[in-house]
Amino acid sequence: MEFRGAHILSVKQFERSDVDRIFEVADTMVPYARRERITRVLEGAILGNMFFEPSTRTRVSFGCAFNLLGGQVRETSDVKTSSISKGESLYDTARVISGYSDIIVMRHPQMGSVNEFAKASRVPVINGGDGPNEHPSQALLDLYTIKKELLSNDRQVDGMNIAMIGDLKHGRTVHSLSQLLLLYDNITFTLISPTELKMPAEIVSELTAAGHKVIETEDMEAGLNDNHTVYLTRIQEERFTTKLEADIYRGRFRLNQSIYTRYCQPNTVIMHPLPRDSREEANELDNDLNQHPSLAIFRQTDNGVVVRMALFALVLDVADKVDDSATDVGWYTQGRF
Ligand code: NCD
Repeated sequence: MEFRGAHILSVKQFERSDVDRIFEVADTMVPYARRERITRVLEGAILGNMFFEPSTRTRVSFGCAFNLLGGQVRETSDVKTSSISKGESLYDTARVISGYSDIIVMRHPQMGSVNEFAKASRVPVINGGDGPNEHPSQALLDLYTIKKELLSNDRQVDGMNIAMIGDLKHGRTVHSLSQLLLLYDNITFTLISPTELKMPAEIVSELTAAGHKVIETEDMEAGLNDNHTVYLTRIQEERFTTKLEADIYRGRFRLNQSIYTRYCQPNTVIMHPLPRDSREEANELDNDLNQHPSLAIFRQTDNGVVVRMALFALVLDVADKVDDSATDVGWYTQGRF
């Protein structure tokens, strides 16, 4: 695809070569994300970071990624304090904010809202999550992480076995990640969820039509066996009509040290898009795995920065100019990695 000026709305817009290009650029961003080098390649550029739904890491990491490229960030992080709460349409908001920004990242609770916003925008828009639908930058950082983690175990994405666990019906991260994996070959997906929270049937059909193997089960212990990666998700409480309804499923599937040791293969990579729900009644990914070398969740969040830097650099067409303005960092940076 042509990245220059493109909206990034769905993983479906990528070919495998596009993903390779994003990852290649992401690799070049590592010294900047690690505070070894500074670049000013986006000096003067403004990111409109529009979050109309709760977010911590997606919003902050998109903002940091833009800052690390030398750009400035303006953001709104609450529907209540934005004009959307006064009845403003997405069309009007898009026309206005795109006049102030060079690029926009947008998150919104409604499926399809970011596409609608992008149609009215005068600058490129990146989907930071549209309701239960898609979360393309998360899928890219997840895949980038999987590739790196598997590589250190001498494995590849093609031919891997992955278990996805939890609220697969509402989780946009697993929707986007599965669809991104359509670009790869011969993957076995074990989808572990309560029957009511199964992966949407259309996505399962797409996976099988692409030649992948899909096992759907409610039996976590059996499902955990023989995977290279396990990807936990939170019950997406905000997508249920009532909290009580979400409570039915909370805590149904949990991974902790003893379950991992008993049922997972050694070295199985443990992932979660975060936030993990650490309340006692949920606790889908226990703190007793925090020191486990296969726990990749904080490498995932670090990788989110370089992948998002790559998206900005490609869409704003500066990927080959990042090093031109680079200088060394002058402040204390030890101990970060
Ligand atoms: C996820 C999201 O918002 O979809 N978080 C994230 O972006 N890392 C997952 C979640 O909220 O459970």
